[in-house]
Amino acid sequence: MRPMNISVIGAGQMGNGIAHVFAQSGHNVTLIDIAQVSLDKALATIGKNLDRQVAKGTLTEEQKAATLKSIGTQTDLALGVKNAELVVEAATENVDLKLRIFRDLDAHAPAGCILATNTSSISITRIAAVTGRPAGVIGMHFMNPVPVMKLVEIIRGYSTSDAVTKTVVDLSTAIGKVPVTVNDYAGFVANRILMPMINEAIETLFQGVGGVAEIDSIMKLGMAHPMGPLQLADFIGLDTCLSILRVLHDGFGNPKYAPCPLLVQMVAAGKLGAKSGEGFYQYTAGSKDLVVSSSFK
Ligand code: CAA
Repeated sequence: MRPMNISVIGAGQMGNGIAHVFAQSGHNVTLIDIAQVSLDKALATIGKNLDRQVAKGTLTEEQKAATLKSIGTQTDLALGVKNAELVVEAATENVDLKLRIFRDLDAHAPAGCILATNTSSISITRIAAVTGRPAGVIGMHFMNPVPVMKLVEIIRGYSTSDAVTKTVVDLSTAIGKVPVTVNDYAGFVANRILMPMINEAIETLFQGVGGVAEIDSIMKLGMAHPMGPLQLADFIGLDTCLSILRVLHDGFGNPKYAPCPLLVQMVAAGKLGAKSGEGFYQYTAGSKDLVVSSSFK
């Protein structure tokens, strides 16, 4: 596939991973964020993740240098998308923010540019409806950690065209991912199935059926999951889990999606998982030890 001009909006965990995988496949990437400090941090993270690949022998130093060289940064959205053929928005999971970004993208991205969102649960159809080009809007849901996980969940909105879907599917395959295409209902497929499992694990803890380590061990050893559901919730971010459950609850009006009160309370307390240093486990920079949070001992 020929190199494309791809702009990625949001330099957080998902945005930097998405920029990494596109640049590593030879695409010209512009990473956009409002703060230069976030962009600098993202480039440092990408550098570290590329170093892991060099250390493993799956990437050469030259390929690492070429990957980093393919990533430019920009704090001005209009300038950052002016030559884009594809934009992947990976900003914070907030409806109003995403709608504002897509209005701006519609105003500044060239005609024909595909507008994709990495949203984990917000309706693609709703996002597309604020643009004058809903046929060109699509969901491209990468999994964390992006350089490692094979899946890209491709979500077709109500008006997404076949041509746009095909381009995004082909591009995902060309960067070494496995695209799986689904339709646009709350939570799509990945989070509609994953989040009720995580919520049930939290409910099981809340009811005292098992402790953190017991619940995670059962799911790791019994179901061959790489992480138990509570560790995975910490990894994703408890605020993100809560917001996705609320989308499912609102979208279907079914009480089975109601977030566990313990999850609500932990988010209110600022215990957001790995990113805040504490969730179901406690995290110390530089340590890979899994230590159950003192609140659950
Ligand atoms: N960039 C590049 N490589 C990375 C990386 C990164 N950010 N993070 C980890 N790796 C690589 C490591 O180099 C290592 O590679 P090798 O096995 O080839 O040596 C490999 O990944 C495993 O890493 P570690 O040894 O450090 O750690 P691990 O064996 O415990 O695996 C994990 C870590 C890959 C994260 C694994 O625990 C896992 O797969 N967990 C589940 C992840 C998951 O379910 N993700 C989806 C979350 S849901 C989501 O993202 C969507 C949503 O909307 C919420």
